[in-house]
Amino acid sequence: MNRTLSIIKPDATKRNITGSINKIIEDNNLIIVAQKRIKLSRDKAEGFYAIHKDKPFFNDLIEYMTSGPVIVQVLQGENAVQQYRNIMGATNPDNAEEGTIRKEFALNIQENSVHGSDSDDNAKLEINYFFDESEIIN
Ligand code: CMP
Repeated sequence: MNRTLSIIKPDATKRNITGSINKIIEDNNLIIVAQKRIKLSRDKAEGFYAIHKDKPFFNDLIEYMTSGPVIVQVLQGENAVQQYRNIMGATNPDNAEEGTIRKEFALNIQENSVHGSDSDDNAKLEINYFFDESEIIN
């Protein structure tokens, strides 16, 4: 069993489709072992996406991620990082496979409905960025 960090992004919370996304998560053998709805501050969003700070889309990304509530989640399951990446689909919904969250719900490459960690090491860092271990309930 391992864990990954998921963020359901503002485009999805604004459209009230977080339950539909959670259903796909749960139908694919991932357990939501922690979840909270928060509004990211600019500092918190910039810290989370620090790796992208030199990218041309960074400022727009921060504007977007602070434009409404997000749901931060810890997902647990076998190969959780890869499993969640499989069901999210490609970053750009135009390239996402049928049946993936982004194919079904994402609006464009930025407003792409969900984030998932890209490695086990980053999953640990990202989970710790939002959750205390005591908030994660198996
Ligand atoms: P995410 O998986 O959370 O990682 C970084 C985010 O930046 C990504 O999802 C998108 O929301 C956004 N992003 C990535 N590439 C681009 C791009 N080329 N143009 C605009 N936004 C992008």
